Amino acid sequence: MVEAPDPHTVLVTGGAGYIGSHTCRLLAAGGFRPIAYDNLSTGHDWAVKWGPLERGELADGTRLREVMRKYRPAAVIHFAASIAAGESVIEPLKYYRNNVAGSLALIEAMRDCAVPRIVFSSTAAVYGNPQTRLLSEAHPLAPINPYGASKLMVETMLRDAAAAHGLIANILRYFNASGADPDAGIGEDHEPETHLIPRVLFVALGKEREASIFGADYPTPDGTCVRDYIHILDLAEAHLCALKRELPKGSISVHNLGTGHGYSVKQIMEVARRITGHPIPVSIKPRRPGDPPELVADPALALQELNWRPTRSSLERLIADAWAWHKTRHG
Ligand SMILES: NC(=O)c1ccc[n+]([C@@H]2O[C@H](COP(=O)([O-])OP(=O)(O)OC[C@H]3O[C@@H](n4cnc5c(N)ncnc54)[C@H](O)[C@@H]3O)[C@@H](O)[C@H]2O)c1
Repeated sequence: MVEAPDPHTVLVTGGAGYIGSHTCRLLAAGGFRPIAYDNLSTGHDWAVKWGPLERGELADGTRLREVMRKYRPAAVIHFAASIAAGESVIEPLKYYRNNVAGSLALIEAMRDCAVPRIVFSSTAAVYGNPQTRLLSEAHPLAPINPYGASKLMVETMLRDAAAAHGLIANILRYFNASGADPDAGIGEDHEPETHLIPRVLFVALGKEREASIFGADYPTPDGTCVRDYIHILDLAEAHLCALKRELPKGSISVHNLGTGHGYSVKQIMEVARRITGHPIPVSIKPRRPGDPPELVADPALALQELNWRPTRSSLERLIADAWAWHKTRHG
C-alpha cells in the first residue's frame, strides 16, 4: 500500500546545483517543501538552504525509493545531470550513463513509489542546427552532440512512461541560464566553468587573463555565436508555473524557456565591460565542435500555456546580478 503524496513536497534532483538551488528558493517562497537529492558531484551543500539535503546517486534506485517513501513527494523536478556539451563530445558514455541511465532509475523509482509528476530539465541542444531563426517546440529534433542526444533520450522515455504508467511530464527546454540571486547568497559555481558570462567576469575579477571567443567567423551579424540568455530566477519561476498547471494523468507537455532575443558573444563582452569597468581583453580561438551559430527560442507556447513572463532577463540585469554574485564568491 503506497501512501498518498504530500501535495506540498517536491523532490529536487540536483537541488544543490545552480538552477536547482534557485528553484528550491522559489519553491519554498511559494509554499512548497523542496527536498534536494544530490551527490554533490558538481553542486554545493552551501546552496541547499530551503529544505533538507538527501545525499544520493541518481542511478541508485534503492536510495531513491527510500527518499521517496520518507517524504512522499507529489512531484520530482529533475535537474541532476552532466551538462557540458563540449565535454560530451569527448566523453559521450559519461553522458549516456549519468543522464540516460540515471534518469531511467529515477523514472522507475517514481513508478514504484507512485510519484505522479515530473518536471524535466531538457535543453535547446535537442534541436541541433537551427533550420529557422527562432526555435519553436515543433522544430525538428536533431541534436549534434551527445549531451543533446542524452536529453532527447530522456524525453522519449518520459513520453513512453507517461503513456504506459500515467505519469505527468513537463519537459522544459532551457536556453542559456545566467545571472544569480546574490541577495540569497547563491549563484553559478561550476568547476570547471564553461559558461560564457562567468568566464568573462572571471577576467574582470583578475582570475583569468583574457576571455576566449570560440569562432569569430560564424554566419551571424558580428561573426560570433548568438544565444538566448534567460535569468536564473525567471527560469526557476517557470518550474513553479509548470508544476501548478492542471494536466490529466498520462499527459506530456513541452515548453521552451528563453526570451526570444539573441545576443552575440561580443555583445555580452561589451555589456560586461560597461558593468565591471574592466577592459576584458579577448583572444579569438577556433570554433568548438558541436556549437551551432545561433540558438534563440520561440517562447510563445510557454508564455501562453504556463502563464509565465520573464521579467528579469535584460542583458544588463543578468550581467549585473552575475557580477554581484561573483564578486561575493571570488572577489
Ligand atoms: N545551465 C544551463 O544553462 C542549462 C541549459 C540547459 C539545460 N540545463 C539543464 O539544467 C540542469 C541543471 O543544470 P545546472 O546548470 O544547474 O547544473 P549543475 O551542475 O550546477 O547542477 C547539477 C546538479 O546535479 C547534481 N548531480 C549530477 N549528477 C548527479 C548524480 N548522478 N546523482 C545525484 N546528483 C547529481 C550535481 O551535484 C549538481 O548539484 C541540467 O539537467 C542541465 O542539463 C542547464
